[in-house]
Amino acid sequence: MASSRSIIAAGAIDAVRIVEADAGQLDALMTVMRGSFDPAFGEAWSAAQLAGTLAESISFARLARLADDRPAGFTLCRCNGPEVELLLIAVVPDQRSLGIGRALLDRACSDARDLAAAEIFLEVRENNMAARRLYGQTGFAEIGRRRDYYAGAAGTRYAAVTMRRLLSA
Ligand SMILES: CC(C)(COP(=O)(O)OP(=O)(O)OC[C@H]1O[C@@H](n2cnc3c(N)ncnc32)[C@H](O)[C@@H]1OP(=O)(O)O)[C@@H](O)C(=O)NCCC(=O)NCCS
Repeated sequence: MASSRSIIAAGAIDAVRIVEADAGQLDALMTVMRGSFDPAFGEAWSAAQLAGTLAESISFARLARLADDRPAGFTLCRCNGPEVELLLIAVVPDQRSLGIGRALLDRACSDARDLAAAEIFLEVRENNMAARRLYGQTGFAEIGRRRDYYAGAAGTRYAAVTMRRLLSA
């Protein structure tokens, strides 16, 4: 039997539309970007960085919009032949734990399959437990680590965990 939490989440996620995003949605994407990343880790991209990546023919993005059209989350990916890299995923704080992150990730994986990619990679800060749990629950497995890859407040360094999901299944 589904838990009451999952019933609530299913109802909320029904009202969310996940649409293709390009440079025309830069403002909406940046609204999510600015509100979603912990400034302690400096992981949010600037509008110029995001615009530059969206302009690449090999990049693709999805935006989650609420019923009232407010932007709630996004993914940004890059496709290199048989590999897709998930560059960013974010959900605004007041819409978290409703299943939007998982829905965005599922869509990114199906987009990658449509591009004939065989696998999707990502890197995540070792202490980003919400994201690591999401990835672990959606078929990603740890395949390596890059020491001291991320810088936190007061100069603390954190490893990047490299994860991969095979897309064939
Ligand atoms: C990671 C992030 C995208 C998850 O989005 P979300 O919409 O809250 O995720 P969902 O509601 O779909 O949750 C899916 C799973 O993620 C995990 N998760 C989400 N939030 C969590 C939390 N606070 N603590 C632990 N696990 C969490 C759980 O496994 C959850 O599954 P469950 O509800 O069945 O337990 C969101 O927390 C976020 O935007 N974080 C800031 C940006 C970031 O760090 N992005 C990743 C690096 S680019």
